[in-house]
Amino acid sequence: MNVVTLPSTEAIAELAAKHYVEVLTAKPDAVLGFATGSSPLPTYNRLVELCDAGDVSFADARGFLLDEYAGLPKDHPQNYRTWLNEQFISKVNFQEGAVQGPEGDKDDPFAAAAKYEKALVDAGGVDFQILGIGTDGHIAFNEPGGSLSSLTHPQVLNEQTLVDNARFFDGDVNQVPKYSITQGLGTILRAKDIILIAQGEQKAEAIAAMVEGGVSVRWPASVLQFHNSVTVILDEAAASQLKEKDFYQYVWEREQELRA
Ligand code: F6R
Repeated sequence: MNVVTLPSTEAIAELAAKHYVEVLTAKPDAVLGFATGSSPLPTYNRLVELCDAGDVSFADARGFLLDEYAGLPKDHPQNYRTWLNEQFISKVNFQEGAVQGPEGDKDDPFAAAAKYEKALVDAGGVDFQILGIGTDGHIAFNEPGGSLSSLTHPQVLNEQTLVDNARFFDGDVNQVPKYSITQGLGTILRAKDIILIAQGEQKAEAIAAMVEGGVSVRWPASVLQFHNSVTVILDEAAASQLKEKDFYQYVWEREQELRA
């Protein structure tokens, strides 16, 4: 795991967006994995600017969402596909239908999950995945206590996640769907390359557990310790509980020199 701490949201977005440009320059038809939520949004905004300027193109790329609420109507503003489409997908030059997500509105969520897992396999897997992290350590919607090798599955959401996400539902925890369909931890581990972004004090405990704790279903993101290409991009607050933060920064800077 590479861990880098940056001084601002703009610097975080710039670094992550630069990585998209590198990925898409090397492989214009890359398969991209998208998280929703506040963590990747500045990066998506930066990518819109870069696309407008002709510095990156999504014309041949395909995309897969990480997860979707179950039971929300397709046109609900917090439906992840609707949200991502409005915030990002429709603002860059993806071809129509190039980005898909789990179908959260189906009567049989198990069948919908299996269908989505197959679609990911049929697409040849995700080349580059962007992730956020929940305050309880979830990635996608893999809550504490699941399997470290799970595939796409229906997931009951943790009370903490419902509380955290109530801000997107008029502050009303009762409006937050109780279930989702999510890529599993085993699915995410198959992505060839991963960036995880976290900002804010509220993420600090989960980040410390993910980077420096034991691998455990209590902190699902800790499974990323098994992946060989993960870059964790943090602000100072999210990095504040890391014991070896300065060493990670030193390693990051030396590696940039080696690659220059
Ligand atoms: C959403 C997802 C979640 C979020 C996490 C953090 O697709 O995968 O794991 O990344 O809940 O959300 P934010 O970024 O809103 O703090």
